[in-house]
Amino acid sequence: MNIIHFETIDFTNTYLKNNYKQLDNLTIVSSDVQSNGRGRNNRKWDSSKGNNLLFSILIKDENIIRKYKSLSIISAYTIIQILKQYGINDVYLKWPNDVIVNNKKICGVLLEAVSKNAIECLIIGVGLNVNEDKFDKEYLIEATSMKNELNKTIDLNELKDIVYKKFIENINTDYDFYDDIKECDYLKNKRVSIQINNKLKNVEVIGIDHDYSLKVKDKDKTINIETGEASMHI
Ligand code: BTN
Repeated sequence: MNIIHFETIDFTNTYLKNNYKQLDNLTIVSSDVQSNGRGRNNRKWDSSKGNNLLFSILIKDENIIRKYKSLSIISAYTIIQILKQYGINDVYLKWPNDVIVNNKKICGVLLEAVSKNAIECLIIGVGLNVNEDKFDKEYLIEATSMKNELNKTIDLNELKDIVYKKFIENINTDYDFYDDIKECDYLKNKRVSIQINNKLKNVEVIGIDHDYSLKVKDKDKTINIETGEASMHI
């Protein structure tokens, strides 16, 4: 495994964006802390030093790039597998990129692409709350951590090793995760407000579809929403 670790960096995704040409496929960049951590829609992603898992994985292999529609969801699902291994069982995937425990967010995934004429590389950024025990209330959804859920401090180095190995395994496999993923679909059957092309709609979620889009019912019409197309509130 190629792992580049920083004590501090602005943003692990940006490091890979700036250096992908000279780095190998599946290089992992991690940091104890980020000075400018970002989540989806440019929201800030705060994390105190050395308490959490903050890393990004570089994807250059064309066969994996082709699976880009599923990568954010498979990444979140990988974290779910690991949380279950640690004994956290009430865990769900909130389409397209959040991991939810007891209705609180424990992990987020930020998938970004570097494109010229075609996609040159993908970058999967993952922030998993591990030993953080206090969170600002300013986030859209309340946050939690492994420590808060398990009432014990987690060995971060041991966890890193398990997480990185599982990610590499799941990204490389041709296994179809769909049946496993639909079992932990947080939004299924919920009513959500969803912003699609600047229009706010109140829809009923049918669930994650086989192509990893989100199938929703808008009045009597069924539509499929692609990742990145929508932002939503429950
Ligand atoms: C989200 O839920 O909006 C996605 C959060 C992604 C956070 C991770 S932490 C590692 C990588 N570096 C960042 O600044 N963001 C991602």
